[in-house]
Amino acid sequence: MKVPNFYGTFSVLSSKAKKRMFFLFPVILVGIVLETLSIGMVVPALGILMSESYFEDFPFLHDCLSFLGNPSHEVLIFIGLSGLAGAFLLKNIFLFFQFQCQGTFVFSAQREIALNLFNLYLRRDYLFHLRTNSSKLLRNLTTEVSLYCSYFLMPLLNLLTESLVILAILSLIFFVEPKGTVFLVIFLVTLVFLFVKATNRVVGSWGQKRLVAEEGKLKHLSQGLGGIKEILLSGKLEFFLRRFHKPNKVAGLMHKREYIFQYVPKLGVEVIAIFGLVFMCSYLILQNKSSQEVTHMLGLIATAGFRMIPSFSRILNNLQSIRYGKPGVDTLVEEFKKHSTPLEQERNNPQSDSQDRLIFTRDIQFKNISFSYAGGEDEVLKDINFKISQGEIIGLAGESGSGKSTLVNLFLGLIQPSMGRLLVDDRELDCTNFSCWQKMIGYVPQEIYLLDDSLRRNIAFGLDDDAINDERVLEVIRLSQLENLLKNDTEGLDLVLGERGVRLSGGQRQRIGIARALYHDPQILVLDEATSALDLKTEQEILKTFTPFRGKKTVLVIAHRETSLEMCSRIFEMRNGKIELR
Ligand SMILES: Nc1ncnc2c1ncn2[C@@H]1O[C@H](COP(=O)(O)OP(=O)(O)O)[C@@H](O)[C@H]1O
Ligand SMILES: [Mg+2]
Repeated sequence: MKVPNFYGTFSVLSSKAKKRMFFLFPVILVGIVLETLSIGMVVPALGILMSESYFEDFPFLHDCLSFLGNPSHEVLIFIGLSGLAGAFLLKNIFLFFQFQCQGTFVFSAQREIALNLFNLYLRRDYLFHLRTNSSKLLRNLTTEVSLYCSYFLMPLLNLLTESLVILAILSLIFFVEPKGTVFLVIFLVTLVFLFVKATNRVVGSWGQKRLVAEEGKLKHLSQGLGGIKEILLSGKLEFFLRRFHKPNKVAGLMHKREYIFQYVPKLGVEVIAIFGLVFMCSYLILQNKSSQEVTHMLGLIATAGFRMIPSFSRILNNLQSIRYGKPGVDTLVEEFKKHSTPLEQERNNPQSDSQDRLIFTRDIQFKNISFSYAGGEDEVLKDINFKISQGEIIGLAGESGSGKSTLVNLFLGLIQPSMGRLLVDDRELDCTNFSCWQKMIGYVPQEIYLLDDSLRRNIAFGLDDDAINDERVLEVIRLSQLENLLKNDTEGLDLVLGERGVRLSGGQRQRIGIARALYHDPQILVLDEATSALDLKTEQEILKTFTPFRGKKTVLVIAHRETSLEMCSRIFEMRNGKIELR
């Protein structure tokens, strides 16, 4: 079994989880000792049962027997059998404890990995999220994380346990039959080798296909459900079903194959074992051993085999599981490596101490700024130069696709210019200060993202209930003219908006976005076609909200409609990635 960069596969675990794993080893070891002892007791127990003179072969036990007052054979049988039962009881109680420890370790690791990965994804910059399909991220966070645990960690622990069990049993029978044991070891190792050799490639390819299909499944699911209105109207239901059907079928097929294949080791090993037993019996009889010796040997082989056969098939099983899960595990390891470079962490950690304070009292300057999404020639913004003074209300017009939103994203520090600089009071906006900058801005996009939660939490976005100031929420509701929403309902601020705000009109959604931006009383407001979904009259009324801000807050209004820009002191126009004053 080849697991390249085996150590790397653990990099996904936190150091706490790794420590927990090390604590698991002694528990597993004790479990194995108990397991071996209980199996080791079967033979003497059977020996006592079958022969009155069993102890005569073991002189060192004579003292022990006389200490017990040389009990009768019946009493000895009783002691032997109770000892055997007691040992199994003790062992199984301990094994329950062991499984508990293992389960706790694996599933807390799963919880942690998902949380850590989500954390890494959330800290990535906006451009990364623009470029990455969220289905892939969703897949990694859900199926791949659970797969890491059920197809890597768990099998690995099982592999360790079962190998040690087999090792212990082998050493036990080694004392009785050294030659046979050596033969058995060679046989078993060859078997493992052949099995891995034969299945590695094919099982690995199933795992790879599953990985890809899983992403496709999520993608088509979210597309189907996300565009439900258009799908229902266009009647193209079948199309989306078909699209989902393909990856769903592949993933199912791979799971099925793997599932069926899980049984192959068990079936094979059992057949091999029974043939082995027949062979051994014939061998022992042919060697003219006494029947007592044969029974004794067979007792040993049967008890050892009783535990060893399932153990051995589980080893093969777990090797196969690890191979099947490997593409997913590799992906996860890769994701952790890619997204947790220290630089990235530092840069994207808003709480980081190294974030400088930024002060905005004079102006914001765009200096020779160019930008392209692909990082190549295809520039969306070309050599942009302009200045916004503090307290100004600036308008930005231009055809759709002319680069207004891109300019806003640069302004917000969500993307970095390919060339040129953005200066705030002559200080360059960069990774050391942009989160401080972002805290000064209230941003209202064209598409408001709403949580399936209460009005209160939607307005005070990302705040815990006890940190929310209801008075302020009501104030911004008034400012953005959302009072109607409260009048019609008895729930007040607890009104739940539904997934992505399905229970609201476009205008109401837009107004919630405005209320949200106003809630923190930001120094700067950016409205990216924020009022485009509103009718003229309402737009005018809302825009009036911003008029008193003149001289106090800096407002950047992006709009299609000329009327939206009436209150602006200056209007810039964007055309083909260039900007000019009107
Ligand atoms: N994530 C993106 N990746 C590549 N190109 C993009 C991306 N977003 C926007 N563009 C391109 O950038 C140009 C400007 O888009 P945008 O700034 O959204 O225009 P506007 O807001 O003025 O309508 C468009 O030609 C668009 O195709
Ligand atoms: Mg736009």
